[in-house]
Amino acid sequence: MIYWSWDPSLSVGIDVIDSQHRRIVDYINELAVARNERDKEEVTQVLMNLVDYTNTHFAFEEELMKNAGYPLSDSHKKVHEAFISNIKKFVQQHEEGRDVTSKLMSTLQIWLTNHIKRDDKDYAPYAAKMMNPGWLKKTLNRFFG
Ligand SMILES: [Fe+2]
Repeated sequence: MIYWSWDPSLSVGIDVIDSQHRRIVDYINELAVARNERDKEEVTQVLMNLVDYTNTHFAFEEELMKNAGYPLSDSHKKVHEAFISNIKKFVQQHEEGRDVTSKLMSTLQIWLTNHIKRDDKDYAPYAAKMMNPGWLKKTLNRFFG
């Protein structure tokens, strides 16, 4: 079951970032499957994975922006923090037994679409100029290794 399909309008023009964003989209689709099957344990598991992966992805992006000298990296980081605390509220409500999955999926889709198209596309040219294979390998290892 596909809740949300990746489309090229979401590309920031940097493969490694696009593939991380696609992974988040995959998690949202996994959430849709778990919800459809009314598998609460699976929903909990996917939520944990989603939060964990998103945290790592944000940390990777923040390192990228900092290294690239992107002038708005502080405010971008604040946006990430607000987003994580928002997801955590949903997770808490889920743990309290409320059915928040559907609302969470639409919130994630809207928020991510806007964030990728506006904020992430804004830092991309700075990042593209700075990145090289050596930096990428080392940094991916540090965050995802
Ligand atoms: Fe971002």
